[in-house]
Amino acid sequence: MIALLLSAVMALQAPQLTPDNIRDVVAAMTLEEKAAVLVGGGSKAFNGIGNTDKGVPGAAGTTHAVPRLGIPSIVLADGPAGLRINPNREGAEQTFYCTGFPIGTMLASTWNTELVEEVGRAMGNEVLEYGVDVILGPGVNIHRNPLCGRNFEYYSEDPLLAGEMAAAMISGIQSNGVGTSMKHFAVNSQELNRLHNDARLSERALREIYLRNFEIAVRKAQPWTIMTSYNYINGVHASESPDLLTGLLRDEWGFQGVVMTDWGGGYDTAAQIHAGNEMIQPGSDRRYQDIIDAVNEGRLALADLDRSVARVLELVVKSPKFKGYAYSDAPDLTAHAAVCRKAADEGVVLMKNRSGALPASHAEKIALFGVTSYQFIAGGTGSGNVHRPYVVDLRQGLADAGFLVDMGVDAFYASYMEDEAFRCNLINGKSPWYIDRERPLEAVPSEVIAASARTADKAFITFGRVFGEGKDRDLHYSYVLQERELELLTAVSKAFHKAGKKVVVILNIGGVVDMAPWQDLADAILICWQPGEEGGNTVAAVLDGSVNPSGRLPMTISKAYEYEPSAPNFPRISADKPFNYSFYRRLAGNKKAYDIKDIDYTDYEEGIYVGYRYFQTFAPRHVAYPFGYGLSYTSFKWGKMKVREAGDGWDVTVQVTNAGDVPGKDVVELFVHAPGKDMDKPERELKAFAKTPLLAPGEACTVTLHVTRDSLASWDEEAGTWAVEPGRYRFLACSDAATPVLRRRVRL
Ligand code: BGC
Repeated sequence: MIALLLSAVMALQAPQLTPDNIRDVVAAMTLEEKAAVLVGGGSKAFNGIGNTDKGVPGAAGTTHAVPRLGIPSIVLADGPAGLRINPNREGAEQTFYCTGFPIGTMLASTWNTELVEEVGRAMGNEVLEYGVDVILGPGVNIHRNPLCGRNFEYYSEDPLLAGEMAAAMISGIQSNGVGTSMKHFAVNSQELNRLHNDARLSERALREIYLRNFEIAVRKAQPWTIMTSYNYINGVHASESPDLLTGLLRDEWGFQGVVMTDWGGGYDTAAQIHAGNEMIQPGSDRRYQDIIDAVNEGRLALADLDRSVARVLELVVKSPKFKGYAYSDAPDLTAHAAVCRKAADEGVVLMKNRSGALPASHAEKIALFGVTSYQFIAGGTGSGNVHRPYVVDLRQGLADAGFLVDMGVDAFYASYMEDEAFRCNLINGKSPWYIDRERPLEAVPSEVIAASARTADKAFITFGRVFGEGKDRDLHYSYVLQERELELLTAVSKAFHKAGKKVVVILNIGGVVDMAPWQDLADAILICWQPGEEGGNTVAAVLDGSVNPSGRLPMTISKAYEYEPSAPNFPRISADKPFNYSFYRRLAGNKKAYDIKDIDYTDYEEGIYVGYRYFQTFAPRHVAYPFGYGLSYTSFKWGKMKVREAGDGWDVTVQVTNAGDVPGKDVVELFVHAPGKDMDKPERELKAFAKTPLLAPGEACTVTLHVTRDSLASWDEEAGTWAVEPGRYRFLACSDAATPVLRRRVRL
């Protein structure tokens, strides 16, 4: 009774949080309340009276409420291909599905920042309308190696493309008055042993490649929060690095928001808070107690604590929860499916189109092969999964578009998929985080193939790959085509080519697969990535030409894995050395034993020479498809390239004309070749890009690309500063990293 009275009196005197009294509120908080605000709701030790809000079912985390001071609990949920919350709730008839948008890699393949911003607006609206305050995305880490299990969540091997995409996504989401958490800061380009791996790299590679993407997005879009990564960087845990989180992120780049840990990331709570990692997620009693003990023992300065608490409160007052937004639990999923469709349509990359194999006409009968055609993959696994209301497979997409399919092949797959479903059912009910090996196996039905080569006009074959968080891809199982896949492709190709008919391969994949060994077996190849819930409709529209593909690769595809610059320094998961949890070395506390290469530590020996920076400089012959590559059903002519000084750099203009006979969009990629005399420089680097609007046949437009002088700088290791090399530069308007179309000289 007395305690109740006491808390009532305290509550009367206590300031109630507003955007203008954060300092007073911090001053009125007890040490326990401050500790609670910094750790997520996973800590039960703090008994905030009246703190009964459990958040949104399926959300990844919450913050603690302090009702005495009017501080509510805010809700954080994954990202990045859509909001990840539970679709069903106990006792509720209503469902809570979220739109499954195209994966990050596919959004980057659009090279269209306006479109990505539109996706962000739709995604952010679902965050708002489902009562979530911050979405844990976008993921912006660099595709350092094609086997990284989370590449699908990330955009590109190039920091400019990744940074621009992230900025667009963040702006779109945050225009709803909800927050983002750009992740994983930084150098999280491998999943194996992700909690303990030490990424060892030069300051130059760090600044120019692995941080530049984050820097662009922070400067342009100010995400409300940033999530630190699990790994170490040069021996210091990312979440415990004052240089990274305060020196660089806040002091140099001007970041204004809150930094949070990845879930369970890091060890030393006091070091994290001191470094500028304000929020510890998902929180635990140990983390809560750590803060209290560290302050009491003088290991954590009160100033660090108060500064961190104030930043978290600044986040809280911006949130819909604080503003009392009455969310509907009913976002317009139909409207957002249309946005998903629009984005996917622009992200499909046409890789090959021999003698006009595509588009196909509805008058042609299609033999549809490959288990993935009948079980399309919308997105990846792990926290990047989305509980989407449906997935349109290619069989359905073709039928809806008006294609006729060969009934013999169709009947075969109808029964085969049922059998496979039965086999795969053995794992039903298992966590969707680890489903990648439980997909139907490919079949090679020789008689069905032979018959369809007589009755059908064209063959479409889809191959699929799905993977996700917590592990990297298996070279032999996931990167190269599996034996049965190759057998199927060979058999279909032989039978159809013998009959003078064409074969089209569709890759429904979360990341690059090896293509060089089999590409000649196909007349046309398209990569539709993991296109979200509308996948089958998107692909059907590209196949029949109602959508003219305009996607471009956001990474290089090399002729063989061995040619990848990071191959000597990346874990090998393969049949003879399978993925195994014992590879996870759980080390005590913050102690690190640096003994096993690529597991305990990974040397980023290739430095800045990631992706096309390496291939264009040292090994152009080893490229199967260059960064920025993609075909169209029309052709474009470029001309009138002009460079003129403008503001902090140059404006480059290029005139693009649609010289073919169907409407289409083109992408102008501006690479710069530096003198490379006083400095080690890649052959060329992407400095700007622009996508044209849809151009009718004969129509022209002028695109303007801005290159800043600063963006030409490289990190000078010796001087510890950015430096721009003087001399003659070449500005190259390219259709991909290997193909300059127009060029101009610029003297600096
Ligand atoms: C992932 C994060 C994710 C978090 C919450 C972690 O395992 O690395 O990307 O946001 O879980 O689900």
